[in-house]
Amino acid sequence: MKKIGVLGSGVVGTTLADGFLKHGYEVMRGTRDPSKLAGWKSGAGPKASTGTFSDAARFGDVIALAVKGTAAESAVDLAGSALAGKTVLDTTNPIAEAPPKNGVLQYFTSQGDSLMERLQKRAPAAKFVKAFSCVGSAFMIDPSFGGVKPTMFICGDDPQAKAEATAILAELGWETEDMGSAASAGVIEQLCILWCLPGLLHGKWAHAFKLLKK
Ligand SMILES: NC(=O)c1ccc[n+]([C@@H]2O[C@H](COP(=O)([O-])OP(=O)(O)OC[C@H]3O[C@@H](n4cnc5c(N)ncnc54)[C@H](OP(=O)(O)O)[C@@H]3O)[C@@H](O)[C@H]2O)c1
Repeated sequence: MKKIGVLGSGVVGTTLADGFLKHGYEVMRGTRDPSKLAGWKSGAGPKASTGTFSDAARFGDVIALAVKGTAAESAVDLAGSALAGKTVLDTTNPIAEAPPKNGVLQYFTSQGDSLMERLQKRAPAAKFVKAFSCVGSAFMIDPSFGGVKPTMFICGDDPQAKAEATAILAELGWETEDMGSAASAGVIEQLCILWCLPGLLHGKWAHAFKLLKK
C-alpha cells in the first residue's frame, strides 16, 4: 500500500488527503499544530493520521506539498531531510499578500523565477514535480466534465518522479502533460492566475484546462 504525506491543513490538504484515502492510500497530514486536525483525523478512518511537517514527510513514500505560497520555503525547511529522495507533488502558487488587481492575482515571483525552483533549491535532494496547481480544489480528485478528462500540467527535473506523478494523477482521473524541467514551473504557476480570473471577475469557478492536440 502506498503512503502519502500531505503537508498542509488547508482546503487543498483536506481535499488531497480525502482523495488519496478514497483511492486506497494511507495518509498522514502534516501541520505545525496537529491538534487543529483532530476533527479531520477522527472522521477520516484507520488509514489516516496526523503529525508535524517532518513526521508526514518521513511517513510518505510520496509527499504532497499544500501550504500557503508565502510559507512554502519555511514549510519545506520544517519537513527537513525527510524529503530527500522523495517525489514531492508541489501544489503551491506564489500568491502575494497583496489583493488581486482587476481579477488578476498578484505573485511575489517575477518572470524567469518560480516558487517551485526556489523550493527545489531549498531541498535539492527532494524531487519536486509541479502538480495540482492549476485547478481549484473542488476538481482535484476525480474531476467530472461530461466524460472529458481535463489536463494537469506538470514539470520537474527528475523523470522518475514525473512518471510517478503521472501514474498518481491518472489514478485520480487526470490526463497529464509533461511541460519539461523545473525551469517551466513559472509558466505552470501562471496558469493559476488564468484559472482564477473567471472566478474573481464573474464568480465562475467550475472549469479546468484541457490541452487539445492533433
Ligand atoms: N485553494 C485552491 O483551490 C488551490 C488550488 C490550486 C493550488 N492551490 C495552492 O495550494 C496551496 C494550499 O492552499 P490552501 O488554500 O489549502 O491553504 P493555505 O491557506 O494557502 O495554506 C495553509 C497551509 O499553509 C501553512 N502555513 C501558513 N503559514 C505558514 C508558516 N509561516 N510556516 C509554515 N507553514 C505555514 C499552514 O500550516 P499549519 O497547518 O501549520 O497552519 C497550512 O498547512 C497554496 O499554495 C495555493 O496557492 C490552492
